[in-house]
Amino acid sequence: MCGIVGYIGRQDAYPILIKGLQRLEYRGYDSAGVALINPDNKLNVYKAKGKVADLEYNASSKDTSGTIGIAHTRWATHGEPNDVNAHPHYSQSENLALIHNGIIENYMVIKQELIRNGYTFKSSTDTEVLVHFIEYIKKTNKVDLCRAVQLAMGEIIGAYAIAIIDKNDPDQIIAARKSSPLVIGIGEDEFFLASDATPIIEYTPRVIYIKDEEIAVIRRNKPIRILNMRDIEQTPEIKTLEMNLTQFEKGGYPHFMIKEINEQPRTIVDCIRGRINIEATDVILSGVLDNKERFENARRIIIVACGTSWHAALIGEHLIEDLCRIPVEVEYASEFRYRNPVIDKDDIVIAISQSGETADTLAAMELAKSKGAFIYGICNVVGSSIARGTDAGSYVHVGPEIGVASTKAFTGQVMVLSMMALTMAKQRKTITDELYKSLIKELIIIPEKMKKVLELNETIRDLSKIFTYAHNFIYLGRGYNYPAALEGALKLKEISYIHAEGYPAAEMKHGPIALIDAEMPVVAIATTDSIYEKTISNIQEIKARKGRVIALVTEGDDVVCNIADYCIEVPKTLEYFAPLISAIPLQLLAYYIAVNKGCNVDQPRNLAKSVTVE
Ligand code: AGP
Ligand code: GLU
Repeated sequence: MCGIVGYIGRQDAYPILIKGLQRLEYRGYDSAGVALINPDNKLNVYKAKGKVADLEYNASSKDTSGTIGIAHTRWATHGEPNDVNAHPHYSQSENLALIHNGIIENYMVIKQELIRNGYTFKSSTDTEVLVHFIEYIKKTNKVDLCRAVQLAMGEIIGAYAIAIIDKNDPDQIIAARKSSPLVIGIGEDEFFLASDATPIIEYTPRVIYIKDEEIAVIRRNKPIRILNMRDIEQTPEIKTLEMNLTQFEKGGYPHFMIKEINEQPRTIVDCIRGRINIEATDVILSGVLDNKERFENARRIIIVACGTSWHAALIGEHLIEDLCRIPVEVEYASEFRYRNPVIDKDDIVIAISQSGETADTLAAMELAKSKGAFIYGICNVVGSSIARGTDAGSYVHVGPEIGVASTKAFTGQVMVLSMMALTMAKQRKTITDELYKSLIKELIIIPEKMKKVLELNETIRDLSKIFTYAHNFIYLGRGYNYPAALEGALKLKEISYIHAEGYPAAEMKHGPIALIDAEMPVVAIATTDSIYEKTISNIQEIKARKGRVIALVTEGDDVVCNIADYCIEVPKTLEYFAPLISAIPLQLLAYYIAVNKGCNVDQPRNLAKSVTVE
């Protein structure tokens, strides 16, 4: 799930590993650790519950020498977060040290077998089972470490990325993966290893993405070798990263989240760049245009995603059904993968994922693929597992998103879905040329409108103070704004730990209205659209029960503002694109409430940026 860093070369490994772990902190974790082989071939392991700074403190008086090492930030799945369960884990002989992202599902069976063979365990993790198992295979089969890893991989079930070092071979790191990402950076006489490119980018742009079920043999001063599980040599594919370090820094903001919220006018421009031809008022989304027939013949579209990406998917459903008249189903990827869904080869399955590494979305995509569906990806992270596994797709192109709570990726995903819907509608001739052009004209000016929304920053910061100590929140919206309400509620609960629920406004009266009293803040999205009047009635129902209403309205609205307790006015846009505007004040509200409460905004408790376990 969390972070892997490795180094082998001519420099001291420890500072590089620590910096790498810091770069991965955004992913969320609960403990950290490092293993180094010193010049006397001693394998030192240091670990600490808490932050990378706690690990540094623990290791400060210890021997951190060595030019080879591996390091990890753990997000506990098996065993509580503490020093013992933190990675790296030693093998029984303490010759090997291993770090692991993910889960070994059959660890219990293997553990029992190892116990029968005299192995003892210090931690409650599945990871320790794996390192003992690799050592056991190495000894009993009398094979080298690489072969032992290959054989172990044949036995273990689960999703994992691992890196392992052996004190008897201080010139080698072995790394392997299945359904969890791993990247090798190639420098001058040195190699870097990481679970994403973030820790590597400052040293080298040249990388190799290890593929599923591949093992990398990284040896000092030797070319990288990549093998598959049958020991067949694979040709490493070297890619060049197109990111720079400033993209990962806070640029003067106190948190990544507020930086990313403020970046949205620019990231949306990046997202539409080269895709909307302003002069010709046309959308050129190559992923769709290159697969014209698939899209023209599609009988149904299924969108699979999780969390915020699932909310973007719900907006996509509205857009595609509205504009293209194709039935769309939106599914939680985690449910879809286990419910034997009916999938046809004429179906298009769209997988939406910011990280492109979400295990549930990846598995849902693989399932759909195995049933012959055409798979389209909407990802932000270039070269991620989902992006690589699809038949076609569109990157969101909003730059690295570091804050665990997704903001700019959400608006980017909605923008891509809007462009997809327009491209398909044009192909299928389901909208008039006039509507097509007017929608494009509106999309182009969304970034300017976003800038205006961001001017509300101070207003929302002041408003946030009134609600900082609320225990519950309800978010209401209808039509296109219903998913925006869900997303507003998710943002608040993720970073401020305040219980918040999103509902379709009219659904209130079927139950949740019982929760309303003078203590209950209700955020009602009531921008002018085709069901505006209905939403007003829903707000009246809340006011009649003394709920405190914070209304999000279109500039100049004096109807809702007269009923609501507080009003946030946003620029007018077309109903189709309403969430691109209404999402932003809700992101700001959640952000400021969390800041007021002193919460760790960028790394909220219990959450990880990319959820690579089930
Ligand atoms: C968003 O704020 C969340 N942290 C989370 O719901 C996230 O959207 C979800 O885990 C899916 O991630 P993905 O887009 O990288 O697949
Ligand atoms: N399953 C392992 C553990 O609980 C690894 C978790 C992770 O990905 O950080 O230790």
